[in-house]
Amino acid sequence: MNLAKKNFSIHGVEKEKEQFSQGLPYTKADAFGNEIRDVYKNIKSKNQVEDLKYMQKMTRLSGKLHNRGREKIEKAKDFKSWIRGILMLGGHYTMEFAIGHMVMHGCYDDIPRSELQSKNWKWNNSMVEEDWITEHNQFHHIYTNIVEQDHDFGFLMFRLSDKQKWKPYHLFQVISLLSMPLYLTPYMAWYITTARAQNEKRSLFQWDLYTKPIQKTLEIWLENYWRYPLQSENGFFKVALGNFLAKLYADTVFVYMIGVEHLNDNLANYEVVPDATIGEFYLRQILTTLNYYVDQRFEDVFLGGINIHTEHHLFPDLPPNRLREASQMVESICKKYKIPYRSLHWSEAIIELLYTGVKYSFPFSKQINKQFELVWKSMTQPLTNVFLKQNKETTYTAKLIKSQKEILLSSNKTILESLEENGLKPSVGCRKGACRKCVVQKLSGRTTLETDGGNIKICIAKPISDMILEL
Ligand code: FES
Repeated sequence: MNLAKKNFSIHGVEKEKEQFSQGLPYTKADAFGNEIRDVYKNIKSKNQVEDLKYMQKMTRLSGKLHNRGREKIEKAKDFKSWIRGILMLGGHYTMEFAIGHMVMHGCYDDIPRSELQSKNWKWNNSMVEEDWITEHNQFHHIYTNIVEQDHDFGFLMFRLSDKQKWKPYHLFQVISLLSMPLYLTPYMAWYITTARAQNEKRSLFQWDLYTKPIQKTLEIWLENYWRYPLQSENGFFKVALGNFLAKLYADTVFVYMIGVEHLNDNLANYEVVPDATIGEFYLRQILTTLNYYVDQRFEDVFLGGINIHTEHHLFPDLPPNRLREASQMVESICKKYKIPYRSLHWSEAIIELLYTGVKYSFPFSKQINKQFELVWKSMTQPLTNVFLKQNKETTYTAKLIKSQKEILLSSNKTILESLEENGLKPSVGCRKGACRKCVVQKLSGRTTLETDGGNIKICIAKPISDMILEL
């Protein structure tokens, strides 16, 4: 995405400014933008070979899951290993989307000898690659949450803001969302085609638009529900059903993986493009996007960085293994400028997505008052609590070699914060991961930032196990 070439529309800026800035004095947008851009420069300058190796490892893992999953579904002697096969194949489909998404953003395009080039990537789903790149990179990433310009914001079946006109079919939008995994393959083929038609200003009734997407959809169906089951010696039905369930599992993950990132009543949306500079553009991305978390290993492998979505929107060509570090730096800049930065447990984000869907199903969403929100929260809170309990704060032990001390670290705080609470004064500079003054050698244990050969920036890293530090 070349922002420099983008002609930002500034009509209506005055009207939207107040809503847009949400507490950030407008004049500070440039300074804020510079700090955010420095995060990008800092991280982008890191070892690209490491980035490429990371993604090659993920690609190999995805391939293994595909092969092992197929084999297990076909040869399983008992129900448990059949289910295991389904989960493996479903895991492959999820990874396939996450990997393709990053590759087609061009994350590895400028790495010498990288085979992961956006223009060559073929992914195993119904979306035509070049149409997806247009829809996603040129519409969605540039016009994020701008009604009628961001193809992903309430286009077609969904109404997610008072700024959209209500139509009777919006009454069924939550049902459409919940049942979407069942028809995702043809839906996404059609959805991306509508974006192409919109981009090329063509009527949806020009049938040549559909040739490739129909071909891709039929290929997937033929492969999963005819060719593979037919080749199997262990029962056509067992294999076809296994493939169907693997796809259903992956498509359910897909819907909630991408559904929660922007479609949320607590995030901003606009009728006009309110930003005219890069700083303002960054600000809009933060106000319209949220991050979500569930379990770090699951996120890293299967969500492939897509859950660290705010930073992905700020820096679309940053590889997934760098986004966690970027998020800790961006969050601390947002704290400094008092900009709301949203990070939710995945369960909370799904519940907020459903709330938004229910609220705007009706033509009187403007009148739906706090009361409705309170009733919704009281109904859904117990469910959220179940998931949040599993994510409650944990404490870990840190042995400090030089100071010969042992202290407790909180999983919700940076290592630096825990050290300071224990009266220690390690050397520190910017406190936002940029200057490296706080770098400490980690001799054992794991943190949220696993880069730099055991050197960790304690101002942004949080612990995820007991550890020994050279401190
Ligand atoms: S990187 Fe500057 S204090 Fe941590």
